[in-house]
Amino acid sequence: MPGNYAVIGMGFVGLSQAIALAKSGHNVIGVENDTQKLRWLENYAQGKRDDFPLYEKDLDVETREQFRARRLTFTNNLEHAVNNSEAMFIAVGTPSLGNGKAKLSIVYQVANNTAGILNKNQPYLWVTKSTVPPGTAEIIRDFFKDHNVGVVSNPEFMAEGTALKDTMYPDRVVVGAQEDWVITAMRQLYSSFLARSAGHFRAMDNVSAEITKYQANVQLAANIVMANIGANLARVVGGDWEKIRLGVGDDIRQSRFNKCSLGFGGSCFPKDVRQYRHTLEQAGASPLDLAVIDAMIAQNKEQKLVMNHYMTDYYGHDLTEKVIGIWGLTFKAGTSDTRESSALAIIKDLIRHGAEVKVYDPKATREEFEETLGLEDTSPITYCDTKEEAIKDTHALIIPTEWSEFSNPGIQTLQDLMTNPVIFDGRDILDIELFRNTEASYFSVGRQPLINTT
Ligand code: UDX
Repeated sequence: MPGNYAVIGMGFVGLSQAIALAKSGHNVIGVENDTQKLRWLENYAQGKRDDFPLYEKDLDVETREQFRARRLTFTNNLEHAVNNSEAMFIAVGTPSLGNGKAKLSIVYQVANNTAGILNKNQPYLWVTKSTVPPGTAEIIRDFFKDHNVGVVSNPEFMAEGTALKDTMYPDRVVVGAQEDWVITAMRQLYSSFLARSAGHFRAMDNVSAEITKYQANVQLAANIVMANIGANLARVVGGDWEKIRLGVGDDIRQSRFNKCSLGFGGSCFPKDVRQYRHTLEQAGASPLDLAVIDAMIAQNKEQKLVMNHYMTDYYGHDLTEKVIGIWGLTFKAGTSDTRESSALAIIKDLIRHGAEVKVYDPKATREEFEETLGLEDTSPITYCDTKEEAIKDTHALIIPTEWSEFSNPGIQTLQDLMTNPVIFDGRDILDIELFRNTEASYFSVGRQPLINTT
């Protein structure tokens, strides 16, 4: 039987959840507070405009399709959403505050407003999808102490770029709740999802579910830190990280998240690692436990600048007179998201050393990038429409993001367009053989450099 659900927050998490529910035959009301974004979504859904507020595979097409099928509507009216639903999914942002703690005020505000609207006897489900620290469900429960509300912790495990697919075909659904009827209702709600993916339903208490989300991300982040340490070693003593990681990864226990990079970024890993550290500290964790996490954070920060260090080794610390091309502004391929991307740290550091930069990204917008960059003076940055334009008359190229269109640049093109073909490959996506016996110099993360000394 189709259910009636409200989803609060139409970012990529909420939108993916809303579309996945609608595609599964349910009626979904998407609630978005930002009226500009709300109108934009509505106009897009109605075919009145063709650009979408974010780049995320299939979300645009499916929004229109589910809207037209009348299974998905949008509103900024919480009362309407509460009165026409049996469960509410919370997918509002929980950005990091200065001290590493996640900002929860929006979540609590929605809980408070919902409690004010909801009929006291009506059975209702509050489902937290946003990433929130352990103990949050307990605080939310307090807002509903006079109601008949099941408070569920149901973290999302989707990655940007594959958000809808990850939601439609979950490898597991983690549900934290106190009451059996709530667990039963959630099992029922997700049964068609898990049937599709043959995934697991993991029922547990709220705190365990809350920790599961952080633990999953911190362990994946730790993999990347270890991969980058290994890649840095391979570069110095000889060896090729790409070969090493495959050799390591044949053991199924460590088969993924071992590609070297200029550190992890995005809206989840950095924030969640910081919040995890904060939670450990609050819980009185041992100094050594804290030191492990601190070392991860510090290694990741340093990793973002390894190409800059190789560049200053090559050109010296004064980069005035130097023009540097940058291919890729997003934190990974497949998204328009530039939050905590390596390009931010790289560009700031280059500008600090006096360089000019020419940047190109297939999906990031200039507005969003400049907002995340937060520099007052962006005059040393030139935004280019093509990757070729971004390397024309440059003294070096840095590749922070692994967009597939960057992987076959053509040695002749590089030599023809660049003033000095010095390539810094932050993802080891180029074939090193391309550069042997050429005018170019090639630096990567996990292989020894090829430096043209002629
Ligand atoms: C992540 C988790 O994967 C997802 O389960 C969680 O719900 C949200 O956080 P996302 O931030 O979209 O998703 O990106 P992900 O693909 O996990 O990559 C995170 C960062 O790690 C990126 O900067 C990526 O480039 C980097 N990375 C990933 C590596 O450096 N090496 C790898 O092998 C994998």
